[in-house]
Amino acid sequence: MENLKGKKALITGGARGLGKATAIALAKEGVDIAITGRNEEVLKTTTSELESLGIQAIYSVFDVSNYKSTQAGLKQITDSWGEVDILINNAGIASFGTVNEMGVETWTQIINTNLLGMYYVTKEILPFMIKRIKEIFIMYLLRQV
Ligand SMILES: NC(=O)c1ccc[n+]([C@@H]2O[C@H](COP(=O)([O-])OP(=O)(O)OC[C@H]3O[C@@H](n4cnc5c(N)ncnc54)[C@H](OP(=O)(O)O)[C@@H]3O)[C@@H](O)[C@H]2O)c1
Repeated sequence: MENLKGKKALITGGARGLGKATAIALAKEGVDIAITGRNEEVLKTTTSELESLGIQAIYSVFDVSNYKSTQAGLKQITDSWGEVDILINNAGIASFGTVNEMGVETWTQIINTNLLGMYYVTKEILPFMIKRIKEIFIMYLLRQV
């Protein structure tokens, strides 16, 4: 694998679940990590765990389904880092049911989070990736959009 030591990875929804597992795996490769989510307590705990692996870890609290909050939350990260090497669009929700069973509110929340949220984050972060790297690596971890 390419040496990732010293790279900077932003992982949305990185405080728990698959996002946290990805954050820990990258931190073990020496990658600095920024994680995001809505629950600050969980973000703080995971950030401490990541720091204990010897890398720089930061977090930002925002809801990816809200563009203004996403802009403000990501600005905290880009102001601190100035650049991003790896973006992992992991934040997402899932709900199962037929069109007949699933309410409009649930469907809308899934679209706003999994589709628009991914777009908002990518739109804000891409300029900080394009300006310096040769290859763009963006991962989407979505069950359904
Ligand atoms: N687990 C699976 O089998 C599976 C399969 C295929 C795809 N996926 C997809 O992979 C991703 C991770 O799955 P997972 O099982 O690890 O999910 P999870 O444990 O439920 O974690 C989801 C993460 O996304 C964050 N999140 C959700 N809604 C958000 C919002 N509106 N704004 C900001 N952050 C939000 C959560 O943080 P907060 O709660 O703090 O906001 C949490 O950190 C999801 O997109 C999921 O749909 C999962």
